[in-house]
Amino acid sequence: MNVKPASRMDLVQEYYFSTKLKQIAAMRASGIDVLNLGIGSPDLPPSAETISALATAAENPKNHAYQSYVGIPALREGFAKFYQNAYGVSLNPVDEVLPLIGSKEGVMHISMAYLEAGDEVLVPNPGYPTYRAASLLTGATVVDYDLSEENGWLPDLKKLAEKDLSKVKLMWVNYPHMPTGAKANRAFFEELRDFALANNILIVNDNPYSFILNDDPESALAVEGMKEVALELNSLSKSHNMAGWRLGVLVGKAEFINPVLRFKSNMDSGMFLPLQMAAVKALENPSSWFDELNAIYRERQQKVFEMMDLLNCQYDKNQSGMFVWAKIPANYQTGFELSDEILEKSGVFITPGGIFGSAGDGYIRTSLCAEVSVFEQAIGRIVSSLALSDEL
Ligand SMILES: Cc1ncc(COP(=O)(O)O)c(C=O)c1O
Repeated sequence: MNVKPASRMDLVQEYYFSTKLKQIAAMRASGIDVLNLGIGSPDLPPSAETISALATAAENPKNHAYQSYVGIPALREGFAKFYQNAYGVSLNPVDEVLPLIGSKEGVMHISMAYLEAGDEVLVPNPGYPTYRAASLLTGATVVDYDLSEENGWLPDLKKLAEKDLSKVKLMWVNYPHMPTGAKANRAFFEELRDFALANNILIVNDNPYSFILNDDPESALAVEGMKEVALELNSLSKSHNMAGWRLGVLVGKAEFINPVLRFKSNMDSGMFLPLQMAAVKALENPSSWFDELNAIYRERQQKVFEMMDLLNCQYDKNQSGMFVWAKIPANYQTGFELSDEILEKSGVFITPGGIFGSAGDGYIRTSLCAEVSVFEQAIGRIVSSLALSDEL
């Protein structure tokens, strides 16, 4: 047999973390106790009400059938209420809210619904790698837009507008931004809206981090007129500690959502009803729940700052999201070099910024998804390895 994978598979590689996790597993199997501070997978549980809603619903024998492609009305209403309360955005739960099996699948579905060979798509560098991979799989051409620390990790839209954008159909933005933790402001979103209108580009804001270490959660859709040019993805993975549940949402104008639904309805067969019922409960978490969550992340963030100080890395103290993004010291060429060294000498894995694009090369990203004691252990190991290299 000589069955070749489709040539489109040459355009993407195995996801970085998928390969890295294999390496970490191999190191652990050989007896090295690796502290993994790489991935942003919340280690804390969803609210107790959410879990008990799942358990109760799962016990009902009637709740195990296929579900509709658009989610149960209560879930769509739950997301609409959440958008109203959290961001002041009004959505029609009937056709402006599409529940997803995680927002990552939404990135692929949006790409499949809108992009094809000959189209161009604007992708942030650094940015979440899935925007690039999904775009390439559709045959579209990726056009990077560079983000820089000097510009607050916001795109320079004026400079971008000087380019030939005639083939650009879609632009991915993601604020609060992963991996840098940067926030956007109203003025930026207004400029983005005008840029989208002037250049006939559909904006998609990916917004899974607005509730983590952020006093002022914002939706791009809260800006007047934005709904005419933009869709927004959101997720319960980070904000509600439900990453493994696979619960996300796409919101915006029905006209923009409908092609995505057409594609998606050919891919999956709805979401497990008890998950949807529990998500309705999660969306009702009171603000005190988020306050408690953020107090935990704040304490962890302080530990990571300590760790970054030890490594002579520089960072902005005002970062949102569940990571610390830090600039590496000048004696390292790239974040890959520093990350490999810390893994080898201290058994601590920190993500090199370069996996998010070339503009992230001089940075590393540490996840806050571990207990304070783990960060303390990591700090202890780094202190010991630094002492050892001083002795050499
Ligand atoms: C910026 C960004 N968007 C989307 C996702 C995917 O989230 P979900 O679990 O909803 O698929 C992630 C996960 O790491 C992310 O960092």
